Amino acid sequence: MRAIHVLNGPNLNLLGTREPGIYGSLTLADIESRLHARAGGRAAITFRQSNHEGELVAWIQEAGAAGAGVILNAGAYTHTSIALADALSAVTAPAVEVHISNVHARESFRHHSYLSAKCKGVIVG
Ligand code: DQA
Repeated sequence: MRAIHVLNGPNLNLLGTREPGIYGSLTLADIESRLHARAGGRAAITFRQSNHEGELVAWIQEAGAAGAGVILNAGAYTHTSIALADALSAVTAPAVEVHISNVHARESFRHHSYLSAKCKGVIVG
């Protein structure tokens, strides 16, 4: 069965109460259970969240070692983290970058991603 590691970065633990006008009212637990339902046993989902950059680096490495695909919402680290970009470069596992909001319709500092070039695809909004 295909393994997919869904990795969520800083402040995404606050979904549901964090700026609901931008991020909606679903909690991270809601998203996790919807994902499991959608996968329907066709993929083994590992779902994690951390506010710490190094922990996300370790989880990308772990996914790489396991040959798992990565779905990554790195939150604000998207726009700052060479370490996460390097981790994605270091593993052969395919990664997809995801953002709940349309980062291109927001502040200019959100328009640049260190991660997009390392990913197979990007989904925003
Ligand atoms: C986000 C967008 C980022 O710019 C922001 O820092 C986040 C959430 C999103 O999912 O829309 O924390 O990644």
